[in-house]
Amino acid sequence: MTLIALGVSSSISIYKSCEIIRRFQEKDFQVQVIMTKNASRLISPLLFSALSGREAIVDPFEGQQSERIAHVALAKEVALLLVAPATANVIGKFASGVADDFLSTFYTAVNCPVLIAPAMNEAMYLHRQTQQNIRRLKGLGVRFVEPERGYLACKDTGWGRLAPPERIVDEGLRLIKKSRSLKGKTVLVTAGPTREFLDPVRFLTNRSSGKMGYELAEEAIRRGADVILVSGPSPLFPPQEAKFSQVQTAEEMEKEVSKHFTKADIIIMAAAVSDFKFAEASSKKIKKEKLGEKISIVPTPDILLKLSRKKGSKVLVGFAAETENVAENAVKKLKAKNLDMIVANNVLDERVGFESDFNQVSIILPGGRAIRSEKMTKIEISQLILDKIEEIIGKKC
Ligand code: C5P
Repeated sequence: MTLIALGVSSSISIYKSCEIIRRFQEKDFQVQVIMTKNASRLISPLLFSALSGREAIVDPFEGQQSERIAHVALAKEVALLLVAPATANVIGKFASGVADDFLSTFYTAVNCPVLIAPAMNEAMYLHRQTQQNIRRLKGLGVRFVEPERGYLACKDTGWGRLAPPERIVDEGLRLIKKSRSLKGKTVLVTAGPTREFLDPVRFLTNRSSGKMGYELAEEAIRRGADVILVSGPSPLFPPQEAKFSQVQTAEEMEKEVSKHFTKADIIIMAAAVSDFKFAEASSKKIKKEKLGEKISIVPTPDILLKLSRKKGSKVLVGFAAETENVAENAVKKLKAKNLDMIVANNVLDERVGFESDFNQVSIILPGGRAIRSEKMTKIEISQLILDKIEEIIGKKC
């Protein structure tokens, strides 16, 4: 049976958590309740233990040594972490990485989708700090079920009422489904720049940091895919669950990508592959005096173009970093490289793109249909791109 962790914090709407448990159980899920200390002052943990059939966790940090690492073991087991109701305090702790009780520590240990259903007084909910914390968590990929407007415990009417349990449970089930939506698929992602060497110390490269490609790899993993990440030089840590391959040059990237191409169902070429290399590379450092002489460059292999010729039923996604006529140039590349999708962005926009945690893109599909995103974190952009890829797969099946 699939296990869900239900975090419960101290809002008057805590009694609605009971219905949430019931609804998950009706769908054959098991629920492990984790209460904050204050929540356990509102309702006895016994009620949740009896209802869920598993002992509710309150704060084992005060308990046995062996229980202190329970959050790590449990974190690996759960398919979803849902916090309902979530107070301003819990949201603030998650947003700032404070891990001082079981629930907040658990949040930092899970790798599954996280869903938060806030419940609090309207002034607290609308407070800039709370809203900033919510935005920050959304930017990290955490999902929210927004509260409703209505009669509140403080006898005010306003925003802050916990969303109805059925809406929370539906969203939770959708996220669990999504976390398996690419199960059985192999996703090959390229990321970062390439380096084309002139000699052992000098090379031609570009401003790509690899962030977009690494986020795409992470998101594909979160959806259950087997992920192969082929990356040029990047300061980022590759996701642990990915099969990782480090390359330097476009030619090395081509070799690695070709090696994995057959088993891949989806290929996302987020790498900014250098279009040129030096016609001749020296194995020794070229002396300064000689550097003034003419240096010629030649094109590198166009990996994506070559792949597109043997693409079959695979989904092929390209990226287009442009500085002018963004959509027009992207459409040209989409057609020339026979792609299922191209993700275009204007790299002159300093708020987003190269080296930034944010991006604003146009997703262009064959036929010219374009979806323009807001300025979002690269995590959110990767979710959008993979949603569109899943739509394409759905149509191909
Ligand atoms: O460089 P360009 O803008 O044409 O890149 C468009 C797409 O083609 C990107 O997805 C990039 O990863 C890929 N590309 C490639 N091999 C190259 C140049 C670009 O696969 N030599």
